[in-house]
Amino acid sequence: MRTETTSGPTTTSEEIERIVTGLPKVSLHCHLLGSIQAQTVVELAAKHGVDLAGHTAETLYDHASYEDLGEFLRVLDVVGSVVRDRDDLHRVTYESLTEGGAAHRVLYREIQISPPGHGNVPYPHLIEGITAGMRDAQTDTGIDSRVVVGLCREDTPAAALELVETVIAHRTEEVIGIGLDYAEVKGPPVQFAPAYARAAEAGLQRTAHSETGPPQHIEVLLDELGCSRIDHGYHVVDDPEITARCVQERVPFICTPVSSDIGRYSGSGDGSHRRIRQMVEAGLVVAIDSDDPPMFGTDPTHDYRALAHALGFGLDQLGTFTLNAVEASWLEEADKAALRRRALEEIEALRGPEPRPQT
Ligand code: ADE
Ligand code: ZN
Repeated sequence: MRTETTSGPTTTSEEIERIVTGLPKVSLHCHLLGSIQAQTVVELAAKHGVDLAGHTAETLYDHASYEDLGEFLRVLDVVGSVVRDRDDLHRVTYESLTEGGAAHRVLYREIQISPPGHGNVPYPHLIEGITAGMRDAQTDTGIDSRVVVGLCREDTPAAALELVETVIAHRTEEVIGIGLDYAEVKGPPVQFAPAYARAAEAGLQRTAHSETGPPQHIEVLLDELGCSRIDHGYHVVDDPEITARCVQERVPFICTPVSSDIGRYSGSGDGSHRRIRQMVEAGLVVAIDSDDPPMFGTDPTHDYRALAHALGFGLDQLGTFTLNAVEASWLEEADKAALRRRALEEIEALRGPEPRPQT
C-alpha cells in the first residue's frame, strides 16, 4: 500500500516499516514509572504484597479507558506504589532502557523520573538503584542515559523547592536537569518559579510539561522558569505570535504522538495528530518520544510509525525528529557532537540506493 505524503516522495508501508525500525532514536520524554511493562508491575506487586484490585498484566493498562490525564495519572500512582527497593529500581530502569530502549534503536535517553510518585523511597536510594540499572543497560547494549528529576505540580511549590534542594544536596553526574509533571490544571507553572530559579543557580537544566494548558503557559516556561525545551506544548499553535517566537528562538518541543492522541491534546483522539502536523508545518523544532509507552500501548518505534502513517512523513522528516532531539539534549558538547555524527551515519545508511533514471 502507498500513502500520500505531505513532505516528500510517496512511501510504502514496507518502506515505513524499514525506516521506523532502523531509525536511530534519541529519547527525551519517557517517564521511568510510565515505561514499566504490566507483567513487571504484577510481579513487583506480588513481591511487596500490594493488592492490584484483581488486575492482571492483561487488564492493568487499559489505555482506551483513560478519559482524561487524571485517570491515567491515578494508574501511574498504583505503578509507583510497587517500585520500592534498590532491586526494583534497578530492574525497571534496566528493562526500560534495554527492551524499551536499545531494542528500538534508542541510542540515548534522558529518563524522566518522578520521586514523589515512589512514595517514601528516599531520594538517594532512588538514584542509587536507577543509576545501577543505567550502568548495566549501557554495559549490555551500549545505550547511554541521564536523569531528569520531575517536580510534581500537584504538590505545593514549597515541596517542589524542597525536592530541588534534595537533588542539589545529593548531586550525582547522572542527574542533569529538572522537569515538571502531573496535572497542569492542578499546578500552573508560574508558582514553581522559585524552585526553577534554585535549579538554575545550581546549574541544572530545565524543561516542563505543557500538554493541556494554554499557549501562554509556554511563555511562562520560557520566561519565568528558564526552560530550554518544552514537553508536549501542542497548544503553542493556538497562538500565532507565540508560535513565531518559538520558531525564531528554535525552542524544541518533545511531542509524544500516541499518548497525546489518546489524551486528545495533540488532536481529536482520531489519530489525526492535527497539532503535531501544524507544529511541523509552522517550522517549529519538534522531536518525538513515547511518554509512558506500555501504559499507552506504544513503544519508541511505534510513535514514529504512527506519525509516518498519519502524516505521510518519510525518512527526511523522521530523521529530522531524531536530529532535533540530539540538539535538544543536555549532553556535553563533545558527547552531543559524537551522538549527532552517529545518528547522521545511521540515518544515511537507511537511504535506499538512488532510483535508476527512467529511460
Ligand atoms: N507523568 C507521566 N506521564 C505524564 C504526562 N503525560 N503528563 C504529566 N505527567 C506525566
Ligand atoms: Zn510526559
